[in-house]
Amino acid sequence: MKIYKTKKIDDSLLQLLLLADPSEKAIRKYLAEGECFVSVDGSRIIGTYVLMPRSNNAMELINIAVIGKEQGKGLGKLLLKHAIKEARRSGAKRLFVGTGNSSLGQLAFYQKAGFRMTKIIKGYFLKGYDKPIFENGIQCVDMVRMEMELNN
Ligand SMILES: CC(C)(COP(=O)(O)OP(=O)(O)OC[C@H]1O[C@@H](n2cnc3c(N)ncnc32)[C@H](O)[C@@H]1OP(=O)(O)O)[C@@H](O)C(=O)NCCC(=O)NCCS
Repeated sequence: MKIYKTKKIDDSLLQLLLLADPSEKAIRKYLAEGECFVSVDGSRIIGTYVLMPRSNNAMELINIAVIGKEQGKGLGKLLLKHAIKEARRSGAKRLFVGTGNSSLGQLAFYQKAGFRMTKIIKGYFLKGYDKPIFENGIQCVDMVRMEMELNN
């Protein structure tokens, strides 16, 4: 299994990115500015993440996703470790990520990797999405922002 940077956004990669973010418009916008990595098993893309440089020596992990069949087997953790290493390598001092108040599994996933909650952006998911988002029977309304210090 290899992880490498790509600029080629085909439909299978787009479908994967849509697992983490329902807005194709938003995805296309941040792909134009960010760095997209994929993990490949043979010729099949099985995981991805996107890093975006932000101000004040920070980077944002703006998307991370693993195909359904491969979830829960440690690939997400491997991609997250790779993203942390990449962010550190690029000189960032902090890595942050945002997830929804209803994304209970993702909140566990990031905290297990060492991210800490820093703020809530109230009403974030009420703007810019075509339909209301529900997960775990909860409406996704607020963004929970999480951060990790990168000690270079
Ligand atoms: C979130 C996602 C990337 C995690 O990848 P994954 O390969 O399923 O996760 P892993 O198997 O590597 O799990 C890593 C750790 O997180 C924990 N974890 C993962 N999903 C979890 C869940 N739903 N509930 C609780 N813990 C969870 C695992 O128990 C594991 O813990 P460990 O470090 O103690 O072993 C993947 O489930 C996914 O693609 N989901 C859809 C897209 C998405 O929601 N992306 C994030 C948007 S914010």
